Amino acid sequence: MPDQATLNHAAQVLTTISADQRADTALRFYFERHRYLQPPAKRVISHAIFAYFRWFSWLDPKASPQKRVEHAATLQERFIADEKSVKAETLAVRAVPTWLASEMDLPPDYLRQLQREPALWLRARPNRSFELAKSLFACERTERAPEALRFTGTQDLFKTEQFKTGEFEIQDLASQLVGHAAAPTPGETWWDTCAGEGGKTLHLADLMANKGVVWASDRNVRRLETLKRRAARAQIFNYRVALWDGSDKLPTKTKFDGILVDAPCSGVGTWQRNPHARWTTTPEDVRELAATQLALLTRVGGALKPGGRLVYSVCTLTRSETTAVADAFTAAHPHFEPHPLFGSGSSVSLWPQEINANGMFIAAWKRKK
Ligand SMILES: C[S@@+](CC[C@H](N)C(=O)[O-])C[C@H]1O[C@@H](n2cnc3c(N)ncnc32)[C@H](O)[C@@H]1O
Repeated sequence: MPDQATLNHAAQVLTTISADQRADTALRFYFERHRYLQPPAKRVISHAIFAYFRWFSWLDPKASPQKRVEHAATLQERFIADEKSVKAETLAVRAVPTWLASEMDLPPDYLRQLQREPALWLRARPNRSFELAKSLFACERTERAPEALRFTGTQDLFKTEQFKTGEFEIQDLASQLVGHAAAPTPGETWWDTCAGEGGKTLHLADLMANKGVVWASDRNVRRLETLKRRAARAQIFNYRVALWDGSDKLPTKTKFDGILVDAPCSGVGTWQRNPHARWTTTPEDVRELAATQLALLTRVGGALKPGGRLVYSVCTLTRSETTAVADAFTAAHPHFEPHPLFGSGSSVSLWPQEINANGMFIAAWKRKK
């Protein structure tokens, strides 16, 4: 149970969280202003805040912030001790907003997974996962991705020598599976259209063994600057950065072997890690983002070489942003054929309860020759 100091810190953090300020950002700013807090204290404050939003609908809005944080921690502990103590029907109406049921199935296992603490995944650099697991300790491998390690320790990974020397990236397993779905080969030319801070760009570059080139674009300059710093740390050089706002004016006339559209989305697949977003995301967001996703796919399709692959990924599982977007793209683009992923269908929904990671939807097409 959190002590009084933790409850007080958490209550202060809560005052800075809003629809425009995510809980993790608010925590980062808070810790920057309270530099005396040591990693164990920061950890318990963060846990208290995330538990607060996981159990938000159970809390009495009239109680003091400290009491609400305390109540959420009690509920979290009770759930950890006996997950069946909360009925799936209760979770269906309290753990997520009511509008979600019209957008996706809510199986009991999924709802239970949402109330658990999320797993932390690393991506080791190519062929380094065994050594890395040995040197970091507390790492578990998975058969799903060769370089993925689930980190169960408590040390601050950003401060480790292995992180500073680029031996690994912190990257969720679901995101790593996007790289494997794209499966670029050395020497190809790829475009990561919504590269952000470069999580997937760096993975694509690694899969290409530093041969060929990955174009990385985004509309956010600051994110692209972070991408460059990460690439430098990882000693990845086979990439080019270009600003692109998603409009018809593409950043290059290059024709690509592969294009990844890791599109902006509602992020419903990240609600275990980011429970605050359950209460700020709206059906209007989902509708608008679905339109943006289809527009992005449509704009970039022409930049593929004949025979090139188009990969679409979103860390959400709402129908509007997943199958509906993929079906609409397929229907409007007869010169693209659905392309098998992981040796079977042309789209896959990765559920958090199945992979112990973020939820993700991936679809792929091939441009006909
Ligand atoms: C899901 S995030 C990308 C995450 C990134 N690929 C990674 O693996 O770390 C989506 C990105 O799309 C960018 N974005 C949003 N709207 C866009 C648009 N209309 N055109 C281009 N990029 C856009 C956002 O700035 C954001 O960085």
